[in-house]
Amino acid sequence: MVGLEMNCVYATFATIGVISIIFLFFDTICIFLQIVRAILTPYFIPQEPQTLNEKYGTWALITGATDGIGKAYSKELASRGLNVVLVSRSDTKLRDTAKEIESEYKVKAKIITADFTTGTKAIETVKRELGELQIGILVNNVGKQYTYPMYLGEVPEEELWDIIHINIGAVTLMTRFIIKKMKEQKKGAIVNISSGAECQPMPLTNVYSATKVYIQYFTEALREEYAKYGITVQHLSPFFINTKMNHFSDKLQETSLLVPDATTYAKYAISTLGKINHSTGYWVHEIQRFFVMLPPRWIRMKIGEHINKSFRKDYFRQHQNS
Ligand SMILES: NC(=O)c1ccc[n+]([C@@H]2O[C@H](COP(=O)([O-])OP(=O)(O)OC[C@H]3O[C@@H](n4cnc5c(N)ncnc54)[C@H](OP(=O)(O)O)[C@@H]3O)[C@@H](O)[C@H]2O)c1
Repeated sequence: MVGLEMNCVYATFATIGVISIIFLFFDTICIFLQIVRAILTPYFIPQEPQTLNEKYGTWALITGATDGIGKAYSKELASRGLNVVLVSRSDTKLRDTAKEIESEYKVKAKIITADFTTGTKAIETVKRELGELQIGILVNNVGKQYTYPMYLGEVPEEELWDIIHINIGAVTLMTRFIIKKMKEQKKGAIVNISSGAECQPMPLTNVYSATKVYIQYFTEALREEYAKYGITVQHLSPFFINTKMNHFSDKLQETSLLVPDATTYAKYAISTLGKINHSTGYWVHEIQRFFVMLPPRWIRMKIGEHINKSFRKDYFRQHQNS
């Protein structure tokens, strides 16, 4: 009889315990779902009643527009009715991209050949070629990554210099040039494409991640300076996208949910323009960023180093016979 009573007491406590755990988990799950909802909403809420060209202007200028994200961005903006100015190094690739855009969409595509490793010379070329054309959306997309993950002393001097000029110099001077006219018009949008590499220092792609932190700080302060003139300043920091920039690893040359192609990325990223100031630009990367940011910075840096070492091995494997 006593044994039966004890069993009843145990069963009661066990039931209370299970119910408490369910409640605890329920709360955690609810909080998690609320966070997921908050970070994903901008990707799925419908566009605002105003179109991008009504809101910002009829021309967009995209740097690094002949490949990867820049090309996809240009096509997505064209599909939304914006005329585009494409800026890159290769004249042939520019002509081909402009032809492709004009044949697919009813918009104009103007090309400017400029090499951003040449610093102010490239900016002068853009100024001259643009003339009086008013730019409504500037997409500072051009960027350079290491040929493959390397220790600082291994990276050729010229490669480091180019990374700094392209990733920092081009975004700064292009913005300075375009934002003055936007201020006069009291409208416009600047989109600065950084990278998930800004989240922590990245050993073996050290200088690249440092340049992306520059973009983050630059963009945030710029917004503070110019938001009062009606200018949208957006900071995008995607994780891996399947483009030629990541040719050093075969793993990054396969499109998946985590590593989307540039077209998918651009479609989601543009849907956030005017809605949020900072985003990865892609809903899956938004969830990824949530988990990436959970551990402390020193652990994230160690993880980054480990990932880069594995990409370095991929690169050596690709080149072992050449
Ligand atoms: N792919 C990723 O996983 C990833 C992730 C996070 C952030 N990002 C960032 O996204 C941006 C675009 O990356 P992506 O992967 O699309 O790059 P990509 O595929 O390598 O394309 C780079 C574009 O920039 C142009 N370009 C390169 N050097 C140039 C120079 N010196 N002057 C003018 N144009 C130049 C290239 O055209 P030409 O060769 O014809 O000049 C090409 O159109 C970069 O800022 C990158 O850091 C990329």
